[in-house]
Formats: sequence, structure tokens, C-alpha cells
Amino acid sequence: MIDSANLRYTKLPLNNGSSFIPALGFGTLIPDPVATRMATKAALEAGFRALDTAERYGTEKEVGEGMKEVFEAGKVKREDVFVATKLWNTNHRPERVKPAFEASLKKLQVDYVDLYLIHTPFAFQPGDVHDPRDANGKVIYDTGVTLLDTWGALEQLVMEGKCKAIGLSDVGIARVKEIFEAASIKPALVHVESHPYLPEWELLAYCRANGIVLQAFAALGHSSEPNLLADPIITAIANRVGKTPAQVALAWAIQRGTALLTTTKTPGRIQENFDISALPEDAMREINEEIKSQVRFNSVVETGVPGFIPRAK
Ligand SMILES: NC(=O)c1ccc[n+]([C@@H]2O[C@H](COP(=O)([O-])OP(=O)(O)OC[C@H]3O[C@@H](n4cnc5c(N)ncnc54)[C@H](OP(=O)(O)O)[C@@H]3O)[C@@H](O)[C@H]2O)c1
Repeated sequence: MIDSANLRYTKLPLNNGSSFIPALGFGTLIPDPVATRMATKAALEAGFRALDTAERYGTEKEVGEGMKEVFEAGKVKREDVFVATKLWNTNHRPERVKPAFEASLKKLQVDYVDLYLIHTPFAFQPGDVHDPRDANGKVIYDTGVTLLDTWGALEQLVMEGKCKAIGLSDVGIARVKEIFEAASIKPALVHVESHPYLPEWELLAYCRANGIVLQAFAALGHSSEPNLLADPIITAIANRVGKTPAQVALAWAIQRGTALLTTTKTPGRIQENFDISALPEDAMREINEEIKSQVRFNSVVETGVPGFIPRAK
């Protein structure tokens, strides 16, 4: 249920029956480790209660340190923060899932996570090299494991009480259906790029119909061109309602029923991105109907190779 007066505190129910995810989430794909720790701390202090990280971002340790400082200062309790991380492509073989998961818990300094996602549906050659390539520079995929095999290993983690919910990331609707139909524990959440230039209405409708939360990453368009925050429809609404373009894009995402992730290493923007309020109906309609641009900024869904992470390891 969206409470317009308290948009920033919106929580969406998860289909595991026992938990909710705060719709307004903070992502930690920040290259600099010190900035990651500071931003994690500042985000929690500003009021964000959902954090997203991943083995592949290399930020779990700093996110763990940032959380720990805030927990130890007594400002926020662990149980009040929704912590999500992700299994990387090189760990899709079922026997690699639990060790990878436990390594993530250790780096995050937590006993459980609220959500564990399969980062992409593409299995890469198992091993310690995150981005395995052949002599021609081509990604080495692993054809010896299916997404459903990996999903089964995540289900096991839920049964062992180590994570509360599991989900998929960087998937199209066909993959979501495949897992939803075959799974014993259904995906609680689907995490994909989404913003006014990529609204993913069909996927959102499928998720809604099946009790799955759609979580939008790059909710502000990842500072990429064409610049969503300079879109004339967004800026006109921002001027009309006395908010910034970023606040308009974030409010739109929650009001249409998705969870979202936004990221900033800039302290003032952390506050700005938390300080959102509901848009009038005409503004929602303008964004939904009058923005015609269709842009995908991150091609990870096509190859499993992350578009926003510099190539390393
Ligand atoms: N599963 C995946 O494949 C995947 C892929 C990408 C992202 N993600 C997750 O989703 C999170 C969010 O994605 P994203 O980083 O692309 O989010 P985003 O919020 O769309 O983009 C972040 C960029 O927007 C800028 N920004 C933030 N707030 C702003 C504001 N109020 N005004 C103007 N610019 C602003 C930031 O700049 P400054 O930092 O310089 O302030 C940064 O360059 C990531 O951290 C990660 O957790 C997942």
C-alpha cells in the first residue's frame, strides 16, 4: 500500500509471508572503498533502511564496516535494516553457492541477509577470476549448470535460515517465469534496471500478478547520457512541485509500485534522495505517457558482463 504522505517509508510485502522490503533503497556500487563506507553510514543516518551490495562490487566489506559503526553507535538496529547481496556468475555451481554466501556474510559482518539474489542468469567458468576470458577476450561461460540448479542451492539457504528471501537480478520475463513456475520457494524479488526511460511495464505487471516485488536499479539513470534528470518533462514537473529532478524520478518509481535503488557518494544528495514526497496524479500520467525515450544504460542482461563495473579481476 502506498501512503502518499509517507512515501519514503513505503514498505512492500515479500511473498515469503514474514517480511517487507523498504521501497526506497540505497545501492553501494561505489568504486572507492572509503567513499563506500562513508556513504553506507550516511545513508543509514539519513533514514535509508534498505542496502544493496554484491560480491562482484567488491564493497561488502566496506558496507559491513559502515553498518557496524552505525549499529554500535546505537543509532539503528541490525533488524531494522534490509540487507541484500548477490551471488556472482562464477559461483553458479550448487556446491559453490554456500561458500560464496558465507564469504559474503563474513565480509558484511552479519549472521543473515534479508535477500540473496542471483546476480545474473549467466554462469561463468567457476573459479576465483570474476571475469574469465579466453585468448580472444571472449567471456568463458559455464554450460554445466542451469539457473534452476543454482536456484535450488539458494532455496537450501532459505531452508537453513541463512537468508530470508531469494530473488533474481538482470533477468527478462522469460527467465522469471521459468524459475517462478519450477521453484519450490518462489522468487520474492526481481532486480532490474528501470527508470522512466525503461519502465519495464510488462515485467512489472507479471511481478505484480505473481506477488513478486520489482526492484528498479539505476533509478536515476546512472548519470548516463541521455540524462534522465535533464529530461524536459521531469524538469518541468520538478519546477512545478518544488522538488529536484532526482526526487521526481524516485517518487515516480515508488508511486507506480516498485522498490528502487539509488546511489550517491555525495552527502547532500543522500539527504536529497531520502527527502521525497508523492507526485500529483497529472505528473505521474505525464511521465508514464509523454516520455517516449527508451534507453537501456546497462547491457548486463544480454551477456552477464556488468555494464557499470570497470573490468577487473
Ligand atoms: N544487478 C545489477 O546488475 C546492477 C547494476 C547496476 C546497479 N545495481 C545496484 O543498483 C544501485 C543503484 O544503481 P545506480 O548506481 O545506477 O543508481 P543511480 O542512482 O541511477 O545512479 C547513480 C549516479 O547518480 C548520481 N546521483 C545520485 N543522486 C543524485 C541526485 N540527487 N542528483 C543528481 N545526480 C545524482 C550519482 O552521482 P554521485 O555519486 O557523484 O553523487 C551517481 O553517479 C547500485 O549501487 C547497485 O547497488 C545493480
